[in-house]
Amino acid sequence: MTFITMFMFLQQHSSLLTVLFVILFFYPLAALFVQHRKPSKLPPGTLGWLPYLGHTLSFLAPHLSTSRGHFLEHNIQRYGKIFRCHVFGHPTIVSCDADFNSFILQNDDRLLESSYPANIPGILGDLTLLVATGDLHKRLRGAMLNFFTTNTQSINFLRHIEDNVLRVMAPWANKKTLIFCQETRKFTFGVIAKQVLSLGPEDVEFIEILHNFETFMKGLVSLPINLPGTAYARAIHAQYRIKAITKSLLQQRKGRGEAKEDEGKMDFLDVLLAHNHLSEEEILSLVMDLLLGGYETTSVFIATVVRFLSDHPRALDELRREHERVRRAKGGDGDGRLEWDDYKKMNFTQDVIKEALRCGNVVKFVHRKAIKPIHFKGFEIPVGWKVLPIFSGVHLDPSQFSNPQEFNPWRWKEDVKMGEFGSGCKGFTPFAGGRRLCPGSEVAKLETAVFLHHLVLNFSWAPLIDTDRPMCFPFLDFKHGFPISIQPICPSSH
Ligand code: HEM
Repeated sequence: MTFITMFMFLQQHSSLLTVLFVILFFYPLAALFVQHRKPSKLPPGTLGWLPYLGHTLSFLAPHLSTSRGHFLEHNIQRYGKIFRCHVFGHPTIVSCDADFNSFILQNDDRLLESSYPANIPGILGDLTLLVATGDLHKRLRGAMLNFFTTNTQSINFLRHIEDNVLRVMAPWANKKTLIFCQETRKFTFGVIAKQVLSLGPEDVEFIEILHNFETFMKGLVSLPINLPGTAYARAIHAQYRIKAITKSLLQQRKGRGEAKEDEGKMDFLDVLLAHNHLSEEEILSLVMDLLLGGYETTSVFIATVVRFLSDHPRALDELRREHERVRRAKGGDGDGRLEWDDYKKMNFTQDVIKEALRCGNVVKFVHRKAIKPIHFKGFEIPVGWKVLPIFSGVHLDPSQFSNPQEFNPWRWKEDVKMGEFGSGCKGFTPFAGGRRLCPGSEVAKLETAVFLHHLVLNFSWAPLIDTDRPMCFPFLDFKHGFPISIQPICPSSH
């Protein structure tokens, strides 16, 4: 570039350059100024030097789910379990403190409210439970909870879960390898699509929704840039298509005007239709929430449990023995299907699930914002600051759980819990808490237990990539989808 073209460039772009200069030169000065002017009782920490980004990249750097990651470890060591930083474009308080996390969850809609980054409302809309606040959240959540009380406690629901496990596992007998995450996705989507919309793998709508969901999930964790071809724009379209399919199912049912008499046979759409105070948009949004909640989290969680078991043969042996006992106790009576009483006998399975939730950290943190000044343990947090309770920060805290990085299901045994790990359960919040406690927590545990029952009784497996372990991206996932080799085991061998 000659001197003249450079001069012309500078002249034409003078306003752009001024903005750049202001950002690069004045932002650090402004940040320094703000840091020195801060109310003295803010938690310790810094707001970083990078405009807008602050510490976002280090905060989001992927790490094993069984570790807190470099960013948290470094800041906890330097400032303690509650510190300030700058992430997602906002001054933020990060908490890895069990008491403060519980305080945050219990004060939802009083001192704090949900505050997810722009791509969540951008894709899911303002009616999603994740971003709805106050009375709107209460009303929509009420309608959803109805589904859990009417539908998920019946024997039909247990049968339906077991049918889906058997359907997914049937072809495994003829396979040598599997991408395990794909299999668990087929399973959880099969369960939720039937419960929500009465759709099965034989229905075209089932396949279309599943296909769109994969695109949709990628956008939820992308930058909110709505330009053709971006993951975000594709996710918005996928969301429209899923809602359009749901809308046509909704209209068919309204057209038929049929009302199911047996509550146990109503799907979620029927339950919502019976609520005549919900608008069509609200119904579509609730359906999306339930499909989303029921699909991704539980499928990656089941894969995580199976990965932990692969690495801990002693835990796998004890689990297998428990399920053999359950099967033996049923004897030759009946059709051999699982009953609720069988589920209640799976105590070690429940400990395995709890331990995998603690080490797996499916949801590493949730997003909140202070709507009133917060006073806690001598700190003051001003209105408008983001507050992130980090669940993994507590689940992997050595002062809460001894050897926290070790997968040890026995730590949950009642007698041990009362002693050494007495205080260990306080900050155990894999499903969050308070007014937003995950309504699907029991369903997720049930699906996992039934899946494990048939897996450990019928198959042996081994990971094909040793390093493919559950990672926090910060959403939980496997880089390679957890490929495994698999073999049926004949009943006589155990
Ligand atoms: C291992 C599996 C699961 C984990 C770890 C998990 C975790 C969570 C967490 C931490 C939240 C709170 C979000 C917040 O406070 O901002 C949540 C909310 C939610 N979950 Fe789950 N979840 C799981 C499975 C499920 C299942 C199976 C369903 C549905 C069948 C479900 C449906 C929902 C819904 C609808 C919400 C929003 C609740 C509200 O805002 O009132 N989840 N989940």
